[in-house]
Amino acid sequence: MEINIYNPDYVKGLFNRMSSSYERMNFITSFGFSIRWRRQFLEKLKQTDHKAEIIDLLTGMGETWNATKNKLPNSNLTVLDFSDGMLQYAKQKSKTKFNDQVIVLQQDILKNELPSNYFDFVICAFGLKTFNTEQLQILALETKRILKQGGQFSFIEISEPSNKLLKILYGFYLGQIIPILGKLFLGNPDEYKMLWKYTSKFKNAKIASDIFSNVGLETHYISYFYGCATGFYGMKND
Ligand SMILES: C[S@@+](CC[C@H](N)C(=O)[O-])C[C@H]1O[C@@H](n2cnc3c(N)ncnc32)[C@H](O)[C@@H]1O
Repeated sequence: MEINIYNPDYVKGLFNRMSSSYERMNFITSFGFSIRWRRQFLEKLKQTDHKAEIIDLLTGMGETWNATKNKLPNSNLTVLDFSDGMLQYAKQKSKTKFNDQVIVLQQDILKNELPSNYFDFVICAFGLKTFNTEQLQILALETKRILKQGGQFSFIEISEPSNKLLKILYGFYLGQIIPILGKLFLGNPDEYKMLWKYTSKFKNAKIASDIFSNVGLETHYISYFYGCATGFYGMKND
């Protein structure tokens, strides 16, 4: 029987199994670019003059928290993920590095219990690729629902570059080298192979960007480093 790689239970299991090695592999898979990309996708947000409510969707183990707090120091940070494995590290991080000030929620974003019209900022790094089109539609509607009027959002995802040579090199790196590194150092080669499978199906954030635009959010598509990552950002106007 063919596996549905977009089934939330399958995705959750994948991230539970990868959680012990994810942070190091994330750094390696993006050649260290993930740190720069996290900073860049947050640059799209304009500061508010009041204490802002931010939510980091699909937070993983909190890889984006430092960049978020640097960009928006006067803010309350809520984070959401559904993987026990990833959240175990996130909760530890909140305690040891963030004085227990990060509110960590274990929920499925597609069936969440978040309040409506509440957040000034919705952010999400590297979480889009494991959603299919119907799920992206729910994500867009939920982003719109939980944002305040005038609230802003920014999303980024690893993507397949449009340049042919870069695409071959990046594909070889992510599809072949990373699983070998995963096997040598971490014991999760199959899980890391899946990341490239998701990326090559996802391609880039254009479809997701259009979906966000079509639900009525002001949305701007953006490419980072020759399309090795892409994303979109914008605002809820009404
Ligand atoms: C690739 S990781 C990204 C982690 C982190 N944001 C980063 O910047 O590296 C994607 C995360 O999304 C979570 N996730 C995937 N689908 C989800 C869903 N439907 N609801 C909540 N979390 C989900 C996974 O558990 C995983 O931790």
